[in-house]
Formats: sequence, structure tokens, C-alpha cells
Amino acid sequence: MTNETADMDDRLRDIIEQHDSDVKNLIPILQSVQEAYSYLPAAAISAISDRLHISEDVIFGVATFYTHFKFTKPGEHIIKICLGTACFVKGAENLLEILKDRLQIEPGQTTPDNSISLERVACLGCCALAPTIVLDNEVYGKMSSLKLSKIIDDLLEEKGKKKEEQRIEKNSDLEKPEEKTRGVEESKGQVPSGTTEGKT
Ligand code: FES
Repeated sequence: MTNETADMDDRLRDIIEQHDSDVKNLIPILQSVQEAYSYLPAAAISAISDRLHISEDVIFGVATFYTHFKFTKPGEHIIKICLGTACFVKGAENLLEILKDRLQIEPGQTTPDNSISLERVACLGCCALAPTIVLDNEVYGKMSSLKLSKIIDDLLEEKGKKKEEQRIEKNSDLEKPEEKTRGVEESKGQVPSGTTEGKT
């Protein structure tokens, strides 16, 4: 069992026990799992199935009934755009087009590097601030295309920086064995102390 699996197993056991290991509490259990992982990992569904003695098909059947549950891992950042009536009349559709164009994904999708997910929602409950978006649980109201572009710029810049950091890290990892080899080669050319070199 990997550390990750063991960790998931512990967390799931706690979640299930908090809900009395009762199959009647399946939905609250699924909600807690989604809160913990931002989605319902397949391994979690399998563990719940074992512990509650119900089939995975039943769990999937219940979970897929509610649009709230997700089955794929979301990106590091989640942008939710509201297309409810109040937001729609204030130009939310145009904002959605900007998001799609800049991120090159459709609602319900995640960028290929798993950094940003895009979701559309019906109403965020803050219509007075329309049009609104939510970025990582923070509401941004009275959104304009300019404000949205700035938010996307910041996210893409962060993404670019991370990519660069990963590239540098990868390069330094590649250089390490070379350094090691060079160190060995150099030491081959050295005369260890206590040898007979120079003696006649
Ligand atoms: S319609 Fe967008 S917040 Fe209500």
C-alpha cells in the first residue's frame, strides 16, 4: 500500500466513522469525501463500497443523480462563471466566451496541465453583484471583460512561472548524475595519500 493510498484509507475511515458507518448516510459521506478531495476518486468509491457493504454501482447510481458530485480531478484553480438570469442580462455570456478563448477549454473541462478548471453555474446567490464569477471560492462581482482578463493574466502568469520552475528543477536533476560522474573522474586522476608515487 502506497503512502497516498494509506492516507486516503485513514481519511475515508474517519469520514465513514463520523457518519456512523451507516449506509443511510451515504450522501453526507460522499459530500465529505468530495470536500476532502474536490472530487470522488474511484479508490474512495471502492473503499466506501467495502466498508458500507454496498456495490459500487449503487454508489455511482446515487452520486451521478446529483450534478454536485464530480468524478474527475479538478484543476488547481476552479473558475465558476454564473449564467443565471441576472448575470446573463449583464453580459455573462460574453465573459464565458473570453474564458473559453483564453483558456482554450469548454465549461466542464480542465486545462491539459491540470491547472485551471472551468465550470458554469446557474446562480451564485449574489445577483446584486452580477455579473459574477467565483475563483477558488472567492466571489468576484460586477465583473467586466477588463477585470476578467486581468484575473486570467494573473493565473496564466502563475502557470508560466510554475512551468519554468519545473523546467529548472528538471534540468538541475539531469545535471546531478553528470556532476557525480565528473567527481568520480576527477578523483580517478588524484593520487590518494599514502601511495608510493614519487618513491624510487
Ligand atoms: S444570477 Fe448570477 S449570481 Fe444570481
